[in-house]
Amino acid sequence: MKERTLAILKPDCIKRKLAGEVISRLIAEGFDIIAMKMIKLTRETAGAFYAVHKERSFYDDLVKFMTEYRVVVLALEKENAVVDLRKVIGATDPAMADEGTVRKMFAESKQRNIIHASDSIENAAIEMAFFFSTKELTENNS
Ligand code: CMP
Repeated sequence: MKERTLAILKPDCIKRKLAGEVISRLIAEGFDIIAMKMIKLTRETAGAFYAVHKERSFYDDLVKFMTEYRVVVLALEKENAVVDLRKVIGATDPAMADEGTVRKMFAESKQRNIIHASDSIENAAIEMAFFFSTKELTENNS
């Protein structure tokens, strides 16, 4: 069954001009782009998005990193989109990521790891709604 998930091309990805390459890879892997936009996250928005990590030691640095430059957010659709996107991007730590994954190829560290992907169907719905209106998620379907 077709599923949707959210990806964020992080500031390191945009700064290093890798957005085109990463988006091409996602399309080649069979993902359809349902909605996409470039935004500059505020501390409030980045902090709220990553609120689940609030107590972690890396939280403040993560918010700082996510607000240092523009990001691109994408709603992606495919069969098994959530699991398949996580496979394509690889482990959080690029040192642990499988060969050929986006993070293995491009990520510099656990923090500067190029791309975020939702980790469950439930969180994908929450994260898509965080960045996109219902209209933005439906208007390109017809
Ligand atoms: P992401 O998939 O966006 O989810 C949470 C983010 O926190 C993660 O990618 C990394 O960018 C960051 N992160 C997770 N673990 C660590 C860590 N141990 N040190 C620094 N940053 C981390």
